[in-house]
Amino acid sequence: MGSAGRAEGTLSESVPALLSVADAEQLAELRLSAQVRDFIAGGSGAELTRSANRAALDDVYLVPRVMAGVSACDPAAALAGWQAALPVAVAPMAYQRMVHADGEVGLAAACAQAGIPYTAAMLASATVEEIAEAGACTWMQLYWLRDRGLMVELIRRAEAAGCRALVLTVDVPELGRRLRDLRNGFTFPAGIYPANLRGYGKAGEVRPGAPGLSAVAAHTAAIFDPSLTWPDVTWLAGQTSLPLMLKGILDARDAARAADLGVAGIVVSNHGGRQLDGAVPSITALPPIVEAVAGRCQVILDSGVRGGLDVIKAVALGADGALLGRPALWGLAAGGAAGAAVVLRLLAEEFRHAMALAGCPDLAAVRALRTVVRQPAGRLRGRA
Ligand SMILES: Cc1cc2nc3c(=O)[nH]c(=O)nc-3n(C[C@H](O)[C@H](O)[C@H](O)COP(=O)(O)O)c2cc1C
Repeated sequence: MGSAGRAEGTLSESVPALLSVADAEQLAELRLSAQVRDFIAGGSGAELTRSANRAALDDVYLVPRVMAGVSACDPAAALAGWQAALPVAVAPMAYQRMVHADGEVGLAAACAQAGIPYTAAMLASATVEEIAEAGACTWMQLYWLRDRGLMVELIRRAEAAGCRALVLTVDVPELGRRLRDLRNGFTFPAGIYPANLRGYGKAGEVRPGAPGLSAVAAHTAAIFDPSLTWPDVTWLAGQTSLPLMLKGILDARDAARAADLGVAGIVVSNHGGRQLDGAVPSITALPPIVEAVAGRCQVILDSGVRGGLDVIKAVALGADGALLGRPALWGLAAGGAAGAAVVLRLLAEEFRHAMALAGCPDLAAVRALRTVVRQPAGRLRGRA
């Protein structure tokens, strides 16, 4: 990985000074092709849920405490049994070498430097072994495949590579209709393929897209198994001694059922608005899930997180932590591993700063913060 050295430094010359995560988004937009930009940014359908994630997070207000002695705020958090520098992990995101040549290995190296877990996507463009070598606490994400033997093989490889948890994504029985990719006829750039899936799409085997046909949609339709049900989770848990998390839960009844099965964690997620368009914003779904789970497993918020302020809101509403999605890719696009490291550093600093201003010396104090959720008349009534 050419820029591993750069990732060690402070600000790389190739990464202009960024003051916020939003700056990284702007820079990324300039550096990516329209097709890749749309692949990252896009949601499904009319992108209602994608937008709603942000609106709902913006509608959460914190009630800060004062005179709490915040000269040394401690943001450390246990995530799936591992002590992280802050309550954040990077979300699984496929095909990161499309974003920058440093790809998954570069982003994982940035996570190692930041002291947060990195979730290796099953559909990564580097192998789980290559990713784990970057030295981060690595979690391995799985989709439910028609080929169960391949799933078990991937689990064994993840275990042998030193992964510390498995994350089964449960909200993709089939891929959401991502209109941007369909319009673009999304095609994998040369040399990008699902590196973990031996025999399932080496270069040349994943067919190109065409107007109205996304290569990602076609490939996943061929390999994903929509028959997944709860007993399959029990089967999967029986295949490994690694902690198992379920990603993509929004209903408190599903969360309670997952906790009953003894999973290590639930990721409250609508996949960044890329699956069911019209699904509830994750932050809105969070409080009833926290209540239903009642401490039996960890609860991690995903979808819409754009900075440290969003993370503190999630923890104040009962989450054990949050996943960082698209912003990590913006950092990668802006400057490879070094750009990703800058984004993670900004996030950590924003989180610590928000802790100080909210009067929270530690996460227990964050959890005890009061929140006010703005709900204009007629908006989002009903049970999540
Ligand atoms: C480009 C891209 C690729 C993704 N690939 C995966 C994947 O392979 N597996 C998965 O579980 N989620 C995947 N996701 C969803 C993320 O894990 C996460 O749920 C989402 O990005 C959260 O929304 P946000 O980025 O708006 O915060 C992907 C998201 C993006 C943007």
